[in-house]
Amino acid sequence: MNVGLIGIGTVGGGTYKVLTENFQEIFNKIGIEIKVTHVADKDVGLAEKSVDKSVKIVPDAFELIANKDVDLVVELIGGTSIAKDLVKSALTNGKHVVTANKALIATYGEELFQVADENKVVLAYEAAVAGGIPIIKALREGLAGNKIEWVAGIVNGTTNYILTEMKDNDLSFDTALKQAQELGFAEADPTFDIEGVDAAHKITIMASIAFGIPINFDAVFIEGINGLDQKDISYAEELGYRIKLLALAKLEERGVEVRVHPTLIPESRLVANVSGPMNAVLVKGNMVGPTLYYGAGAGAEPTASAVVADIIDIARQSQISNKPFIPSLGFMTNQIKEKEILSIDDINSEFYLRLSMKNQAGSLAKITKIFASHNISIDAMTQKVEHNQSIDPDIFLVTSKTKESIVNEIIEEIEAFSDNNHKIIKLRIEELK
Ligand code: HSE
Repeated sequence: MNVGLIGIGTVGGGTYKVLTENFQEIFNKIGIEIKVTHVADKDVGLAEKSVDKSVKIVPDAFELIANKDVDLVVELIGGTSIAKDLVKSALTNGKHVVTANKALIATYGEELFQVADENKVVLAYEAAVAGGIPIIKALREGLAGNKIEWVAGIVNGTTNYILTEMKDNDLSFDTALKQAQELGFAEADPTFDIEGVDAAHKITIMASIAFGIPINFDAVFIEGINGLDQKDISYAEELGYRIKLLALAKLEERGVEVRVHPTLIPESRLVANVSGPMNAVLVKGNMVGPTLYYGAGAGAEPTASAVVADIIDIARQSQISNKPFIPSLGFMTNQIKEKEILSIDDINSEFYLRLSMKNQAGSLAKITKIFASHNISIDAMTQKVEHNQSIDPDIFLVTSKTKESIVNEIIEEIEAFSDNNHKIIKLRIEELK
């Protein structure tokens, strides 16, 4: 099988390395020789430095796609404009495509899967979610006998690194981000990571496979970690929680929740202890119960490991049939059905709130009265009085499980007090049981 690589950057270089260094290992497993025969990259000099002389290098990816010697195209340039044209063109040329492009799949996945179906080829995307962790395979195949109840993942290494540094070394968000950039854990422009967009692309894809729903990135509720105060990480710890950027998809009777936000997780959960740039995904199936997948979510070789697994799957299946036998989203296409994506106001959760009131008689009574009037119980509460009495003390608390819209009403009422000059911080809690 002749592979054409589009993009010879980090993951492209990693894919070339895996396919050449593990050539024999892969051959022993599948009995097919898989070779990178063509590379397309605008930077021809970089391509020449990265691959053997026997590999044909072209600056134009469309030329690579049109080449009849290329059996399978690997798209590793990212983005959603040129990448979409390239993938579509490869599929219509009857070529299988492997991509690591989560934005592309989360935005145009269904359109592209349809083109793949029409042309009887595969569009594979294991590397798009959680890098080296084979989570797409686990969801589509390993857990196929289950009805999936929920999927919860730490699927962005950049933010997990930042949150780990904020907790372990008491760093501010800005300092931790700067450090992540200096060490190469964060992109020069980390906007998609810190604002939760990257994690949202990944949970969009997983939600679709888990529940058999159409891909709908626009319906995901997204809150990033920019703006997170180190104080809340410390206070959460006092309460027995870790804060993680969690990507969550949950099947409820009323519909489906799909959301990304900083989340308090009990520190006793394994997933709460996933540190640094590592990723983890927890999946609860109705028969198997909770299962946990852990590994490197980014980087050259780990991501390439997933790319190559897809290439191997395609090579194996091409020997048996020219009709792909695993549906792109795990469900038969005619069984992909809309389910209501619930508004964030409608979710039920426990909440962590941080407020600050003048330290005077009756302050706490005023606050607790509001909770009581909404029939919401407070499960834990701490007040931090500073020696400097001129600073309003922090109060942080955990509510019982309640609807988010009710918590919002409580917050509005407390913020309206004249002796409160502070915006209330609200974070969601997930027990992940
Ligand atoms: N930017 C991603 C992360 C890696 O930080 O995890 C690629 O999905």
